[in-house]
Amino acid sequence: MIQRPRGTRDFGPAEMAKRRKVEQAMRDACARFGFGEVVTPTFEHSELFTLRSGQGIIDEMYVFKDKGDREMALRPEITAAVIRFYVNEMSTMPKPLKLYYLGNCFRYENPQSGRYREFFQIGAELIGTKTPETDAEIIALAVNCIRSAGLENFVVRIGHIGILKSLVKDQIKDEATAAEILRMLDKEDFDAMGDVFDAKALPRGLFDKIVSIADIKGGIDELNNLEDSDATRHLREVFDVLKLYGIEECQVDLGIVRGLDYYSGMVFEVDAPRLGAEKQILGGGSYTLSELFGGEPVFSTGFAIGIDRVVLAVEAEGPIKTPAPLDAYVIPAKDDMRKYAFGIVARLRSQGLKADVDIMRRNLSKNLKYAASVGASYAIIVGNEEMAKRSVTLRDMKTGKQQVVLVDEVGSAIIGSSK
Ligand code: HAM
Repeated sequence: MIQRPRGTRDFGPAEMAKRRKVEQAMRDACARFGFGEVVTPTFEHSELFTLRSGQGIIDEMYVFKDKGDREMALRPEITAAVIRFYVNEMSTMPKPLKLYYLGNCFRYENPQSGRYREFFQIGAELIGTKTPETDAEIIALAVNCIRSAGLENFVVRIGHIGILKSLVKDQIKDEATAAEILRMLDKEDFDAMGDVFDAKALPRGLFDKIVSIADIKGGIDELNNLEDSDATRHLREVFDVLKLYGIEECQVDLGIVRGLDYYSGMVFEVDAPRLGAEKQILGGGSYTLSELFGGEPVFSTGFAIGIDRVVLAVEAEGPIKTPAPLDAYVIPAKDDMRKYAFGIVARLRSQGLKADVDIMRRNLSKNLKYAASVGASYAIIVGNEEMAKRSVTLRDMKTGKQQVVLVDEVGSAIIGSSK
């Protein structure tokens, strides 16, 4: 037997019904906010991601040479591809440009629950502006997506990468060391950060200052613990607009550094506390990438939600309800009834019902068993006596109740019962 690769999954119909429900709810939220869908390739020139995504992502990338000896990568994320698409073909479109996407991403990580090598993201990018209302709009969309997916317990943390990034980069001139420290901050690994400070003989006062800023977490008033700056004023305005949108559950967290390197302003993350280790269901923030790909510099803000984690989190709060996989299963009671059964199932399908018919020539009791096992809401039994009167027996598979219904009316009887 050939096994599927580690960190990948197969999804059966029941699982897919749940995933599609969650995905559709989030797509609808994007549409309600005026975002249009884009699709980009699953693989790109690897340079698209190595230019600015950061060492963390580079170490996890699936890179390969194609037959033309070009270095390609399976996309570890979709933001860089959307901005490449923008620079290539959409830069003259009216701003702000609101785009969303849904697709699979690949990272060579250590697989565990909620962490996969192939996973799925839905994300949005708002291109062309850097006002506080831009950031608020993106955060409001993110919260709406998550609420629409059916998740009730989640925490939105909002920070500003400019504060820690400028401090670290101003004070630590060696770029590699500064990048290493930012990576450790992202992982909140203060012990390892202390070791680097000791090894490189960096001032302890700077360490303490970094830790005290990263520790600013809680209500918006926590910002009072910091000198006023463009960054703090920006964050206050973002929170003001969020309040007008009716979104009040957000917290400040100046410790957010993000695993990807391209962020320059507001950054935010959402956690679903029930998930344990892999509880981060969303990451995002504002950035500039276009100039790196040969375009004019343009400010953007965006986010990506880990769909797999959202599905796990929603299920941790309660089962995800999906419609019955089949409305009706048509069973010819005798062989000479088969010709009628096909006409009936065709008509049900044309009425928009999910309908199926026996194609294995089974007897009535085996067919009823099958109808129950595939989760059909009704069985429609086509018998001699009933057909003589242009009728069928409609059996409710849950209650076992049966009634004789005219063939012409069986579709509307099923549609009526589900209302
Ligand atoms: P990210 O934080 O790297 O950001 O990923 C976004 C989300 O994808 C994470 O919060 C997590 O839920 C999910 N995710 C990441 N890795 C895995 C994995 N191995 N298995 C399952 N889920 C995973 C980005 O990708 C940025 N492009 C977000 C963004 C958009 N920033 C601006 N625009």
